[in-house]
Amino acid sequence: MKILFLDQSGKLGGAELCLLDIAKPYRDRCLVALLADGPFRDLLEQHKIPVQVLSSEAIQVRKDSSWQQGFGSLAQLLPLITKVVQLSRDYDLIYANTQKALVVGALAALISRRPLVYHLHDILSSDHFSSMNRRLAVTLANCFASLVIANSEASKTAFIAAGGRADLIQVIYNGFEPQTYQSSSADAVQLKQQLGLEGFVVGHFSRLSPWKGQHVLLEALAHCPDDVTALFVGDALFGEHQYVEQLHQQVNALGLEKRVRFLGFRSDVVTLMKLCDLIAHTSTAPEPFGRVIVEAMLCGKPVVAAKSGGAVELITPEVDGWLASPGNSHQLAAVINLCRNQPERSSAIAHQAQIQASQRFDLASINQQIAQLLGQTLARVSQV
Ligand code: UDP
Ligand code: GLC
Repeated sequence: MKILFLDQSGKLGGAELCLLDIAKPYRDRCLVALLADGPFRDLLEQHKIPVQVLSSEAIQVRKDSSWQQGFGSLAQLLPLITKVVQLSRDYDLIYANTQKALVVGALAALISRRPLVYHLHDILSSDHFSSMNRRLAVTLANCFASLVIANSEASKTAFIAAGGRADLIQVIYNGFEPQTYQSSSADAVQLKQQLGLEGFVVGHFSRLSPWKGQHVLLEALAHCPDDVTALFVGDALFGEHQYVEQLHQQVNALGLEKRVRFLGFRSDVVTLMKLCDLIAHTSTAPEPFGRVIVEAMLCGKPVVAAKSGGAVELITPEVDGWLASPGNSHQLAAVINLCRNQPERSSAIAHQAQIQASQRFDLASINQQIAQLLGQTLARVSQV
C-alpha cells in the first residue's frame, strides 16, 4: 500500500513524532508532505523517509479562528490542494495527521478520488478549539474520511460529542520502541553532574505553553523541601513568549532561582528523563494522549500526571503512577513528597509501569493494528 501522509507542521510536536514512527514501515512506498518547513523535515530525512515541503508560508488559521478568518485562508489553500491532488495520483491513500492537513487532504481526496484517513491527535472541545474549528474538523471527517484514528478514548469521545460519526472512529494509542528507552544510567549520572543538578529532580518534558501547566509545577515546588529541584525541558514551539516570561517572573517571585532549570528543546529526552527522580505532567486542559507520560514509564521513572483526558487511560493510580487534579499544586506537591520520602515504593511502581507500558504501547504491534485498519479501509472503499 502506497501512502501520502500529510502534516501541517515542520515542528517537532507529539503528533509529528507519532507520524515519524507510523511512516517508518512505509519508507519505500510513501511520501510525507508537509505544509510547513522545519526540523521535522530533517528528522524524516535522517530516518530515510521521503519528505516534501509543499509551502514556505504557514497557513494563517489558528485553533481559535472564526469562520471569517477560515475563509480568508482559502486563497492560501488552493495551491496546496492542487499540489496534493497531483501527488496523490501516485498513492493509494491520503493520511491526514493534523487539522489543517485534514482540510487540504479532504478536498484533495474528493478531487483525486483517493480514500482519506484522518489521525485525530486532538480533543475537539472548547478547551482547545474554537467552535468553527470543531465544526470544520467534524464535518470534513464525517463527509470525506473513510477512517478516523483517535489517539485515545478521550479524543474519540470528544469527536463524537462534537458531532463526529461514531462508526468512523477507532482508538489506536501511540506506539514506542522500548529499546530506545534503555540507555545506560551512567550517561544520566554524568549529565546530571554536567548540568550541576543536585537533590531530588522533578522533570517536566513539554513545550512551554499555558495549557501544559509548567506554572503548576513551580507552585508545587514552593510546597516542597529545598532539596527538590525542577528541570523544564521543552521550548515555546508556537510563540508563547509571554507565558515564558511569566514563568521566569514566577520563579523570581517564589524565590526558586536555585531550584529551577529551563533547558529549552532537547533531543536527548531519554537521558534527561533517566537523571530525574520523578516526571511530572501538569496539563491544565485535557491532554489528548500525552507521549511524555508513556516515555517516562518506558524510562523506568515514576510519573505523576494531571487527571484528565488521555492521561487517565495511561495511568492507574498507585499501580503504575499517580494522578493529581489539573491545576492543583498541593496534590502535585503531595505526590512529589511521597516519591521523595518513599523511594522504594515509587521505584516499585515505576518498574511495574515500565513492564506494562512496553507491552501496551509496543510500536511493532501498534503499527500492525494500523496496517490492518488501513488494509480493511482500502478493501472496503474499493468495493464501492
Ligand atoms: N520532546 C522532545 N524534546 C523536548 C520536549 C519534548 O523531544 O525538549 C518530545 C517528547 O519526548 C514527546 C513530544 O515531544 O515525545 C511531546 O509529545 P506530547 O504528546 O507529550 O505533547 P504535545 O506537545 O504533542 O502536545
Ligand atoms: C498531540 C497531543 C498529545 C499527543 C500527541 C500524539 O500533540 O497534544 O497529547 O500525545 O498528539 O498523539
